Amino acid sequence: MELKKLNLMKRLNGSSKIKTAVFISGTGSNLKNLINFSKSKKSPITINCVISSKRKIKGLYYAKKNKIFNKVFKFEKNDEIKIVKLLKKNEIKLICLAGFMKILSKNFIQKFNGKILNIHPSLLPKFKGLNTHERAISNNEKFSGCTVHYVNSKLDSGRIILQKKVRIYRKDNPNSLATRVLKQEHALYIKAIIKEFSNP
Ligand code: GRF
Repeated sequence: MELKKLNLMKRLNGSSKIKTAVFISGTGSNLKNLINFSKSKKSPITINCVISSKRKIKGLYYAKKNKIFNKVFKFEKNDEIKIVKLLKKNEIKLICLAGFMKILSKNFIQKFNGKILNIHPSLLPKFKGLNTHERAISNNEKFSGCTVHYVNSKLDSGRIILQKKVRIYRKDNPNSLATRVLKQEHALYIKAIIKEFSNP
């Protein structure tokens, strides 16, 4: 059943919010932001699980601090099968990639088709992949920004939900631009989740 309909039914009969897993690989500022948002009444999601591709990262600290189930996987060999089982066991209906640096297999994406979101630090379809700020600056772009999109089997190419433009200034370097874009990512991810999964 399409996630939106499922959510509507859940909300109409007053049942729980959409159980969500967040996948991370680093600082976890988007995760921290999503955790804080999920605690608010207007959030259509709860965060029930954090999956990390790296140990000893700040993102895991936020999960532990908020007593959210968390597990580290290298995303090698049959890790994905274990992750799918774990997500099904936790009745996860939505996956938010947040600073996640691994490529999910087509098989995994198909298992959660239409239920995986990602935040990308560029105005897609421009600058798919890595080093987006560096590339936008060296391309003399006037704007960069961020995009929340559904994940499909092509890198950074799924249906776009929302985007936010961020002006590039002459004095900008990749770090100064990244800092401004990251701030907009936090706001955009919340807006995108509300847009897609909250009742009108
Ligand atoms: C940031 O560069 C962000 O643009 C991208 O992943 C990186 C880390 O984000 N989405 P986070 O602080 O781990 O959420």
